[in-house]
Amino acid sequence: MGLAPERRVLLIIGGGIAAYKSLLLIRLCARAGIATRAVLTKAGAEFVTPLSVAALTGDKVYTDLFSLTDEAEMGHIQLSRAAGLVVVAPATADLMAKAANGHANDLASTVLLATDKPVMWAPAMNVRMWMHKAVQRNVETLLEDGAMMIGPEDGDMACGEFGPGRMAEPETIFAAIEAFFKAGEGHRLPAPEATRCLSDRPLAGRRMLVTAGPTLEAIDPVRFLSNRSSGKQGYAIAAALAELGAEVVLVSGPTALPDPKDVRTLRVESARDMLAACEQSLPVDAAFCVAAVADWRPARATGRKIKKEKDSPPPALALVENPDILASLSRPGKNRPRLVVGFAAETNDIEAHARAKIARKGCDWILANDVSGDVMGGEDNEILLIRSEGTEHWPRMPKAEAAARLAAAVAAHLGEESGRGIEGNRGRTSRA
Ligand code: CTP
Repeated sequence: MGLAPERRVLLIIGGGIAAYKSLLLIRLCARAGIATRAVLTKAGAEFVTPLSVAALTGDKVYTDLFSLTDEAEMGHIQLSRAAGLVVVAPATADLMAKAANGHANDLASTVLLATDKPVMWAPAMNVRMWMHKAVQRNVETLLEDGAMMIGPEDGDMACGEFGPGRMAEPETIFAAIEAFFKAGEGHRLPAPEATRCLSDRPLAGRRMLVTAGPTLEAIDPVRFLSNRSSGKQGYAIAAALAELGAEVVLVSGPTALPDPKDVRTLRVESARDMLAACEQSLPVDAAFCVAAVADWRPARATGRKIKKEKDSPPPALALVENPDILASLSRPGKNRPRLVVGFAAETNDIEAHARAKIARKGCDWILANDVSGDVMGGEDNEILLIRSEGTEHWPRMPKAEAAARLAAAVAAHLGEESGRGIEGNRGRTSRA
């Protein structure tokens, strides 16, 4: 072919559902006069056929390291060097691990080890795989070795989850290839996205549930029992979790607050409605019960307004206990979140009461606060974070700051668990 070698791409197609996008990438390159030769891994061939790849590249498709015919036509060393750029799309966790560690046990990994040309990776994998420390370590190694990373992008994934891991669109990869060839040999594109998810958005791909506000328990159509909770602390926690990249559902009792940004807010009234909305939002990675749920509700809410009867005494208000949402979410089972966090509103012996509450309700952490002052409805909070490993005192600070501190502690906790390969009670979340 009469093309300069640097206008040629060697495209390695790994095994992933995104492999179909690589067919479009080949067409985009062809239209721009960039020739593509393809290596299709065994797993890649489960998603696209060698025939469709060959039809689009107009060339033979290379699949086998030990094929005599392939070696006679074009040795794998030559294959790795005849192009100006090697593009791996979709780049699987396995291909990246092999390349980062110098393995060469199939054609794709051998080509990657033998090439002296720049390599551009377009990762595509499940969000949890992408965020796993082992994968991020390999990404770091590849970047240090001079690789370019395009994506992955955030979004709904074929596996039903949400977060970073989706392969960049073919147009984006093509634009990067074009930019590379335009800039000339030796140019490296910046890789701003590659390690972003672990630094700025450590909760990306995690689902979180937060309850907030008071509940309202009807006595009759115009009267109710409720409490002084403003919802501020719960809303701030929902916003702080979303800020770190989590997908957040906020189940809120009646408040005067606007829906927090980037949070799915479900408005409810009673404790029973709140419990139902929470249960419908499962599974989640972590749940935060911040709501001041009314402990009791009128035994019977009348459909008609209760009238004053002349000369008769005031009606007696019989109460029954409401369901305990925190205890219910903490109950062991396949839907139990890996982390359940409660609040303890106390007026005396705060730590002792809060510890008893952890045991009684079965949650993992409790944030205890003294509600004898102006905490309920106020702007600030002073907190004791009580965990099995010990108690931390957070001095008085704005509720938004306490929320950010809690979100950071949660990110660190879930990150450590993933790093140790612990999948908790439920394994993984999927979008409800
Ligand atoms: N909670 C709940 N459902 C209830 C009552 C409380 O989910 N029906 C949750 C609150 O959201 C909070 C925690 O339980 O996270 C503790 O709430 P608190 O009012 O401090 O405790 P109570 O369970 O009401 O116990 P007590 O009134 O005896 O202190």
